[in-house]
Amino acid sequence: MDEKLELRFPKQFLWGCATSAHQIEGGLTNDWSDWEKSERRTKHLQKLNLNPADFISGLAANSFVEQNADIACMKELGLNAYRFSVDWSRIEPQPGVFDETALATYLEFIKKLRAHGIEPLLTLWHWPVPLWARDLGGWQSGKIIEPFLRFVEKTVNYLNQEVNFWITLNEPTVYTSQSFLAGVWPPQKKSLLAYYQVIGNLIKAHRQAYDIIKKIDANNQVGIASHNIYFEAKGNKPINRWLKAGADWWWNDRFLKKIDDKQDFIGLNYYFHNLINYKFGRHHDYEKYSDMSWGLHPEGIYHLLKDLKKYNKPIYITENGLADKGDQHRSWYINEVLQKVHQAIEAGVPVKGYFHWSLIDNFEWSHGFEPRFGLFEVNFQTFERLARPSAQFYADICQHNRVFK
Ligand code: FCB
Repeated sequence: MDEKLELRFPKQFLWGCATSAHQIEGGLTNDWSDWEKSERRTKHLQKLNLNPADFISGLAANSFVEQNADIACMKELGLNAYRFSVDWSRIEPQPGVFDETALATYLEFIKKLRAHGIEPLLTLWHWPVPLWARDLGGWQSGKIIEPFLRFVEKTVNYLNQEVNFWITLNEPTVYTSQSFLAGVWPPQKKSLLAYYQVIGNLIKAHRQAYDIIKKIDANNQVGIASHNIYFEAKGNKPINRWLKAGADWWWNDRFLKKIDDKQDFIGLNYYFHNLINYKFGRHHDYEKYSDMSWGLHPEGIYHLLKDLKKYNKPIYITENGLADKGDQHRSWYINEVLQKVHQAIEAGVPVKGYFHWSLIDNFEWSHGFEPRFGLFEVNFQTFERLARPSAQFYADICQHNRVFK
C-alpha cells in the first residue's frame, strides 16, 4: 500500500481565507455600485442577453450584518487568520466626515476575530472608492491622494489596537489594467496615459500610507497584495525567455520594486500561468479548469515564490482559489498548491501564511454572482452559509498544519 508523505508547515504558519468588502458586505454606495446600475453597463449586459440584476452587488453576502455567520465558518475551518477589507465609502461617506458607527462595527468584528484566536489581515483599499473621490477624478487624479491618506490615518488609528497586518492596496496592477487599459471596469477608460497616471498615484499613495501606518505604530507590518502571473518560457527558447523577462518586469516586479523600501512583507495573489511561445496568452492544455475557464496550474506558485525570495521579506499568500460551484476540483487544487508552497519553503522561501480565496461565495466584480469561489456556499436569498466538501478538506489541513503528498 502506498504510504502518504506528510508535509508539515512551520510552526505559527497562518492558515486563513480572504474576502473583500464590496464582494461580501452588501449595502454599499461607491463607484462600483454606481457603475453596476449605470445605463452603459445595463445596456451592455442586455446586449449579451444577460440579466443586469445578476450583476448588481446589492446585499452581496450581507456580511456586514452576518458577522457571526462568517466567524462561524472560520471556526468550522479552524482558521488562525482572516484577510478582509474595509470599505472607504462606508467609513468616509462624505469628504472628511467619518462614520463612527461603521468604524465601531469593524472594530467589534475584529475583536470577535481576536477572541477566537484569528489574526486579522486588513486591506485598506480593495478597489472601490467613494463617489465623492471618484468625482475628484478617482485614482487618475493626484487630488485623491490626500483624502486617501486621511482615510488611512483615521482607520488605522481607530483599529490599530487590534490589527498588526495592513495591506494598503489590493492588486494595483490588475485594477489599473482592467479599469484604465482594457476599459472593462469602472471608469472604463482605455488610455495608456491614464494607466501611467493611476499607477503613479497608487505608488505615491502606498509609500505615504506606509509612513503613516508605521508612525502610528512601528510594529505594524505593512505590504500590498500583488497579483503575480507565472510566465513560463516554452522550451526555454531565447525569444521566449526574453519575452518572459519583459513580462516579469512589467507585470510582476515593477510595482513591487517601486515600493520595496516601503514594505515589510510581500503579499502574493496567485491565479494564473501564461505559457509564452513567441507570444503571450497562448492556450495550454491544462488538466483541469475552473468554472471561469481559468486553467489550473498549481506548480506556478512554486516558481513565483522562488522568484519573490529576492525581496528578502516574509511572504504571505494573500489569495489563491478558483470558481468551482460543484466543488469538483477545489480540494485537489488546494492540496496541489500547498504541496508546491511546502516545496518552496523547503527551498528556503520564507512563506508565512496561506489565505484561500474565498471563505464564502461572493460578488465576483464584472462577472456578478455566478462564479462561486467559496469554501462555503451562500444562498443569496436567505444568506445561509453551507459548507462545501472542500471546507472539510481545508479544515483538516488548517487544524493539523500539514498536507499529504
Ligand atoms: C482577485 C481579486 C479578488 C477576487 C479574485 C477571484 O484578482 O483580488 O477580489 O475577485 O481575484
